Amino acid sequence: MRKLIAGNWKMNGTQADIFELDRLAIAHGAGEVDVVICGPATLLSQMVRVGLNIGGQDCHTNISGANTGDISAMMIADTGARYVITGHSERRNDHNENDALISAKTKAGWDAGLHVILCIGETEAQYHKDETLDVLRAQMDHSIPDGASEENTTIAYEPIWAIGTGLTPTTKEISAVHAALRAHLVTRFGASGTAIRLVYGGSVKASNANDIFALPNVDGALVGGASLKATDFSPIILALQQSV
Ligand code: 13P
Repeated sequence: MRKLIAGNWKMNGTQADIFELDRLAIAHGAGEVDVVICGPATLLSQMVRVGLNIGGQDCHTNISGANTGDISAMMIADTGARYVITGHSERRNDHNENDALISAKTKAGWDAGLHVILCIGETEAQYHKDETLDVLRAQMDHSIPDGASEENTTIAYEPIWAIGTGLTPTTKEISAVHAALRAHLVTRFGASGTAIRLVYGGSVKASNANDIFALPNVDGALVGGASLKATDFSPIILALQQSV
């Protein structure tokens, strides 16, 4: 299994920031792991010229139509990007996206030939009530469409309380969650379930990357804040490259 590390730029970045990717492409463009940058829609066409894998952060369920402000998976693919994120907690929360919609968006991504990075994660309250695994299993059951495989899908476990907070679960907790997610994928998808990548996201930085990447069933990371600057992201990519 090729590991994957994706930077999610969220609503950050203007044309002046593209040079950050040039630096990453020189250092990590042809390594042993898949390096992806999920940029804002406004920059995708420029980002694809750099030579890294590029992705969008969300897509509509339709290919085209009267959907003001939305972007379709076909449009993302048309820029030359090959990935798209679906189900990010900021979409689930800020835009009331539910599992059924995320499933439909994921299928739309597949139909456009994109590899989907599908996010799941529990809230802080659910974590404290020990509901994490139930929440994640339900999200997987209802937001991953039938037909998921290692070719078309990566699952990102992002505890909502760890996003942008500097907090992370313990390595023991990440291990336990990823083992449970793996078992659940295998039950549902058989052999493909063993090969679908399971990446961790939430306050990943250079100082914790080595410990996280050493864990079984952690096949990479989805990185927010620390992906914006090459000087921050490069050591995290290097940590993943050195873990394989
Ligand atoms: P941070 O790495 O900033 O915590 O964000 C994680 C995330 O939401 C990536 O999608």
